[in-house]
Amino acid sequence: MSESGPGRLTVFAPAKINLTLRVAVPRPDGYHPLQSLVVFADWGDTLHASPASDLSLQLDGPFAPALAEDTHNLVLKAAWALRAAADQPQLGARLTLDKHLPVASGMGGGSADAAAALKVLNDLWELGFSTRALAEIGSVVGADVPACVWSRPLLMEGIGEEIRVLPAWPELNAVIVNPGVPVSTPDVFRALDRCEDRTGFGVLSRVPVAGDPAAALALAAAGRNDLEQPAVILNPVIGDVLAELNAFDAVRLARMTGSGASCFALVDEAAMASHVARALSESHPDWIVRPVRLAGAA
Ligand code: C5P
Repeated sequence: MSESGPGRLTVFAPAKINLTLRVAVPRPDGYHPLQSLVVFADWGDTLHASPASDLSLQLDGPFAPALAEDTHNLVLKAAWALRAAADQPQLGARLTLDKHLPVASGMGGGSADAAAALKVLNDLWELGFSTRALAEIGSVVGADVPACVWSRPLLMEGIGEEIRVLPAWPELNAVIVNPGVPVSTPDVFRALDRCEDRTGFGVLSRVPVAGDPAAALALAAAGRNDLEQPAVILNPVIGDVLAELNAFDAVRLARMTGSGASCFALVDEAAMASHVARALSESHPDWIVRPVRLAGAA
């Protein structure tokens, strides 16, 4: 966390990548038990918080217009949840969200912003909640928020609230591609329930602890994203993205993240990520393409 300006705090809200995502049949409340290997990119939004008597949120950055209509912004929901948990409803802050991640893109941007709000306000208001406590508060804001509070390589289970931080995981090089189509997460889950018969989870019940990139890659490759097939049916452009990524020799694994439409491709070297990203940006100027590093366990 860095400070710039009197009393102003800043936190980074990194993009979430589901290297694998297994989804079981829904519970009676409609939520789906899942199992996911999650890592975070060095690309994301930034949230600033300054002392103020009222709670307010200003939107900035390239994707601010896409959020402007949203009256249920997860940043404010998180701030309200934190004030309630602290039993201090009077607390105020001036929040500014620098929005760099495309909205409704499967990278957990809204959840990452909510998690960043919990972290930055916990510090600004000197509440002293632990990471575990912030993750629990975040679970009522959104299913992906606890993972984003931890924001390090982890296994996510339950409906997102059961987190196992991985003690060993290597940094990976990747390219993220978003074809610019917003995707409704509930629609994709509903499409999955219609199109597939699912009995349980796959390989991730064997704990994925891997220190070297080859083992991590093998583990990711052995998994899948159960939401990919229904998302491709709803938005065929996702299939185009995956096909284009798979056409590069350097790409070891191409897969959709979350409920889409963003996809990632794992490559061995940062230079390969830059090469793939440059080539795709040229052939598809309407796609958002980004070479990234997916952080390893600290
Ligand atoms: O909790 P959140 O608002 O992020 O979830 C968005 C939607 O995704 C939910 O309304 C639900 O339809 C679906 N979902 C699900 N099972 C999960 C997580 C999300 O069905 N484990």
